[in-house]
Amino acid sequence: MCYFRRIFMVVLWLLSFAFPLITGDVSYSVPEEMKRGSVIGNIAKDIGLDLGRLSARRARVDSEDSGVQYCSVNLNTGELVVQERIDREGLCAKKTSCILKQELVLENLLELHLFILRIQDINDNAPMFKEETLKFEIRESADKGARFAVGEAHDEDIGENAVQGYTLEQNNHFKLDVKTNSAGRKYCELVLDKELDREDNNEITLVLTAFDGGSPQRSGTVVIHVTVLDANDNAPVFSQTVYKASLPENSAPDTLVITVTATDPDEGIHREITYEFDHVSSKDVFSIHPKAGEVRVKGNIDYEKMPSYEMQISAKDGLGLISYATLLIDVTDVNDNAPIINLKSLTNHIPENVSPGTEVGLINVQDRDSENNRQVRCSLQTGVPFKLVPSIKNYYSLVTTEQLDRELVSDYNITITATDEGSPPLSSSKTVHLTVADINDNPPVFEEQSYSAHVTENNKPGSTLCSVAARDPDWRQNGTVVYSLLPGEVNGAPVSSYVSVNGDTGVIHAVRAFDYEHFRSFKVQVMARDNGSPPLSSNVTVNVFISDVNDNSPQILYPTPEGNSFMTELVPKAAHAGSLVSKVIAVDADSGQNAWLSYHIVKSTDAGLFTIGLHSGEIRTQRDISESDSMKQNLIVAVKDNGQPPLSATCSMYLLISDNLAEVPELKDMSYDERDSKLTSYLIIALVSVSTFFLTFIIIVLGVRFCMTGAGAVFALPAWHVTYY
Ligand SMILES: *[C@@H]1O[C@H](CO)[C@@H](O)[C@H](O)[C@H]1NC(C)=O
Ligand SMILES: *[C@@H]1O[C@H](CO)[C@@H](O)[C@H](O)[C@H]1NC(C)=O
Ligand SMILES: *[C@@H]1O[C@H](CO)[C@@H](O)[C@H](O)[C@H]1NC(C)=O
Repeated sequence: MCYFRRIFMVVLWLLSFAFPLITGDVSYSVPEEMKRGSVIGNIAKDIGLDLGRLSARRARVDSEDSGVQYCSVNLNTGELVVQERIDREGLCAKKTSCILKQELVLENLLELHLFILRIQDINDNAPMFKEETLKFEIRESADKGARFAVGEAHDEDIGENAVQGYTLEQNNHFKLDVKTNSAGRKYCELVLDKELDREDNNEITLVLTAFDGGSPQRSGTVVIHVTVLDANDNAPVFSQTVYKASLPENSAPDTLVITVTATDPDEGIHREITYEFDHVSSKDVFSIHPKAGEVRVKGNIDYEKMPSYEMQISAKDGLGLISYATLLIDVTDVNDNAPIINLKSLTNHIPENVSPGTEVGLINVQDRDSENNRQVRCSLQTGVPFKLVPSIKNYYSLVTTEQLDRELVSDYNITITATDEGSPPLSSSKTVHLTVADINDNPPVFEEQSYSAHVTENNKPGSTLCSVAARDPDWRQNGTVVYSLLPGEVNGAPVSSYVSVNGDTGVIHAVRAFDYEHFRSFKVQVMARDNGSPPLSSNVTVNVFISDVNDNSPQILYPTPEGNSFMTELVPKAAHAGSLVSKVIAVDADSGQNAWLSYHIVKSTDAGLFTIGLHSGEIRTQRDISESDSMKQNLIVAVKDNGQPPLSATCSMYLLISDNLAEVPELKDMSYDERDSKLTSYLIIALVSVSTFFLTFIIIVLGVRFCMTGAGAVFALPAWHVTYY
């Protein structure tokens, strides 16, 4: 059961991603001019929001069009409080309903609540007359019941707080008739109640008071001066009581709006009519020619500010007799406002793993024009993985259309264009900067599939073998690579006793010296891991190849080098040139050139008799054996490898030229000590030289003596060659 409920909740949660929540049914009545900080109401309670989440969801109040923020939401209590002075008259002038559309925006699952502030009027303005005094000139022949327009007092407030009535100071001749015009405003006329008599009283002063219905009540006064004339004149008469005109907004100054005319049946200067606006408010916008009655544009006509004007025009003749007409001007809209794009909410760091269709922003489009001129279409530039989805009213959701990949594109500048349907259409655009936030979605990748390190044996511990490198395009710690050795064994010992890897640089060092003769290569596994959570990793194999160094001398296996057991080879007396006599066998633990052996005879009893194969070590006779050859032959053979530098070993080989083993002399005699024999040679040479010298000396002495005895000279040559050998 619980399971299905959970699924239902998940579906709800997913739906909330797809459609932003937009509601609008709360409204608050707010008196204007409330102090800043005054509480308007508790919107969290009224909408049913969780108080604890207001702050996390960055709840805030946004106003729909004006830039002023009149209220804000207290994140702790959920109350709406006044933020800026709200002046109803400034906002809405005489509009009967003054409404501020506001929005409560919640982020992180975007939610939008529309609410309305209904600004209530307070009686903060008193009724005011256009002038401080009014002057009337009334003929004494005026009949009882004649009416004289006084016009109206103006009060910026509305409803009850606007002008509700007038009172006239007590007097003998006039009473007041209060009327209501088409717009519902009160105005009044003086009505002659008792005929005037110029001789009796030619000057009357009255005070007229206008009062509103507010609480406390406010009032304004005007002083009316009446001059009694004895001429018999007529008041001007307008051709229409109400004039209507329509005018496109932005009309140039001096554009003619309408011409009003009033006629006066009087003669002479009495019929000179002067036109005038009765009230101040429109004087900046329109002008009226005092004689011609032409109403022209003077100021800025802005439909969005004021869609229509209503004003009183007075016509006054030379006697000061006045009549009034109403002028209604309807302003027609022109497409002069480009749409305004408001970014209501934006998820600035979009995780790259969000699924397509995720909402990342909410946009509101306004156009201050009306009708077609305010119909707006919104579009997005192409080639970005986002689109605009129309939501309620003028809202659009910005949603993703594809999977994002921060490693490919890390930020977007999205240009939103809004175009209205006016003619010609106006458009505006806004660029939104979106960044994509990283997710650890890339494992480190080694630059090579495998690595090889070549090291010569007898390396120093700590020497560098090679370095591995892995790249991880993720951001910061998600892309920070750490290297380590994976546990393993080499020849039964843990791999860490052979090599180590620098975690930061990936440089692999030897931990000990390697011996080529022990093993020639081994493998280690290195792991590159990022610092994400959870981390991602990849592994690579590093093959370490050890190369040989000439660290082993050749080793002679035959003849066995042990000094005491002399080996003797028999050479048949009949051996011909080229006969194989013996072979020196040697090995070298090194390899390659370091183990490529060459054989040389370094010393021999008879230098011309034997040769040795340079690489085979085979000892062969170089010529036929002859009778004169000594029976005992001795060779000293050097075996040398081809390393750099080469290493060598020597051995002695004894050869006996004989067909009969019985002839073999005592082997000991054949012992041949190189150093001894050299010494012996030197001794013999020295002895022979001394003896020769001595003999020569004796002979010479004897010869000299012989000659001196008279015998014939005898020359005896010194016996140079002594057959010792
Ligand atoms: C987006 O605009 C900003 C500022 O104009 C610029 O620095 C940035 O490079 C732009 N980014 C892209 C992806 O075009
Ligand atoms: C790394 O990735 C994780 C998710 O895998 C993400 O939450 C985190 O913000 C990322 N770190 C950075 C520095 O972008
Ligand atoms: C690397 O090797 C370790 C240890 O054998 C293993 O746990 C891990 O899953 C491997 N990683 C990859 C990416 O193959």
